[in-house]
Amino acid sequence: MDQGKRTLLIVEDDPGLQSQLKWHFCEDYEVHCAGDYDAAIEALRLFEPSVVIQDLGLPPHEEDVLEGFRTMQQILRLSRHTKIIVVTGTQGTEHALRAVSLGAYDFYPKPIDTKVLDLIVDRAFQMHDLEKQNKSLLQQETSPLTGLVTSNPTMLNICHKLEKIASTDVTCLLFGESGTGKELFARAIHELSARKGQAFVAINCAAIPDSLIESELFGYEKGAFTGADKRTIGKIESAQGGTLFLDELGDMPLVAQAKLLRFIQERIIERVGGRVEITVDVRIVCATNKDLKKLTSREAFREDLYFRVSDVVVNIPPLRDRGEDKLLLSRHFLNKIASEYNRDIVNFDETAIASIDAYKWPGNVRELIAKVKNAVVMADGRFISALDLQLEDVGELALNLKHVREGAERTAIQKALTISKGKITSAARLLGVTRPTLYDLLKRYNIKNNNQADLKIVDKLVANSDRKVD
Ligand SMILES: Nc1ncnc2c1ncn2[C@@H]1O[C@H](COP(=O)(O)OP(=O)(O)OP(=O)(O)O)[C@@H](O)[C@H]1O
Ligand SMILES: [Mg+2]
Repeated sequence: MDQGKRTLLIVEDDPGLQSQLKWHFCEDYEVHCAGDYDAAIEALRLFEPSVVIQDLGLPPHEEDVLEGFRTMQQILRLSRHTKIIVVTGTQGTEHALRAVSLGAYDFYPKPIDTKVLDLIVDRAFQMHDLEKQNKSLLQQETSPLTGLVTSNPTMLNICHKLEKIASTDVTCLLFGESGTGKELFARAIHELSARKGQAFVAINCAAIPDSLIESELFGYEKGAFTGADKRTIGKIESAQGGTLFLDELGDMPLVAQAKLLRFIQERIIERVGGRVEITVDVRIVCATNKDLKKLTSREAFREDLYFRVSDVVVNIPPLRDRGEDKLLLSRHFLNKIASEYNRDIVNFDETAIASIDAYKWPGNVRELIAKVKNAVVMADGRFISALDLQLEDVGELALNLKHVREGAERTAIQKALTISKGKITSAARLLGVTRPTLYDLLKRYNIKNNNQADLKIVDKLVANSDRKVD
């Protein structure tokens, strides 16, 4: 992000050594100093250094390593890619080695020879940059499964699991909240299997009325019932040779469950009104967002059917637990939707990034696509803001206070402009700043004052703000 010098943090309680190091490194790096734990963590949050040179003996325990280890571990907890070079005084190499085993990048004993330290610091920056590049390359890559975007370790694990599942004919159950990608995974299993190229037939078990379920699933012969004027193939038979996807299985009525069980056990069907038994060769993939085990205990789901379909169960985590996938997917869909709609939108701004990260995403990827699409259509400038995304209930604190402050500032400015119908003097008065300051802020946040924003947003904001202003 920073275009200028790379940032180095020196955590050293000896003022003499602190300024010696500062003067030595300030030509090549942007250097910040801290003398204890609190100052170090504050500097970490403020300046986001790539490399930290850290003394192990810090106050109030200068003579031992307690405070030094606490500081080092907290830095790594908050920013695990930061490279820490531990400087040991009287504490000896034993502690230095322990520091490295706990995640420090390297160590160096006092007295300091700046020439050697130069090399270590330079290498630490290089390593940090390489890791960063590597990470962004990884993120640009989609997963091994077609159409599935992820860089989350649990999801990548699932992908590998699915590759193995696909090569067999085992029945598998995909369990996950709504919108987590169950159907996408089911299709991926089919595409990776030897049945690729044959039919993939999806049945939404919740959507078929009880009275039609038998004829829908198994088909019927001519004359089987009033209106059956020709032989009709059912969904199961139409998947012959391919994959049958039983979606929302937990919502299937009990009567239908009994009929499905027989087919799953024997892979034989009879069309309604027919007398011939037809063998159907299909791989079965099921999906549900309901806890089937719990449903069996309430007798809302047949236990024998549950055992038949759960040879292998794959738990798909909700989006809120997938870390950086939230941003990765947001960027993926931003690019895709912006090009589909021919909109010149380049990225999310920092307020949007903070809100994407903090939001709980109850509707998972499906909701994310809808929110990004809405924002792409509504955004005024080349950047999407938190306001464009309209994510409600962003309850949690972001790591970096700067993001929160900027988000709040941006929202307040947008509101003030809307209430004052774009008049700078009144908007500045509402915000308690001067006109030049407001102009500066508009420039800084790339906010256009054209008052052409989406009417729906405007109405909502005015309704909310009216209450506040009076
Ligand atoms: N990891 C992902 N990468 C890219 N697109 C995804 C991913 N996960 C889900 N999607 C997309 O999100 C949308 C919802 O996914 P899908 O229909 O597979 O979810 P689902 O779990 O079956 O949801 P529901 O329970 O509501 O039926 C689809 O458009 C799908 O292509
Ligand atoms: Mg689905």
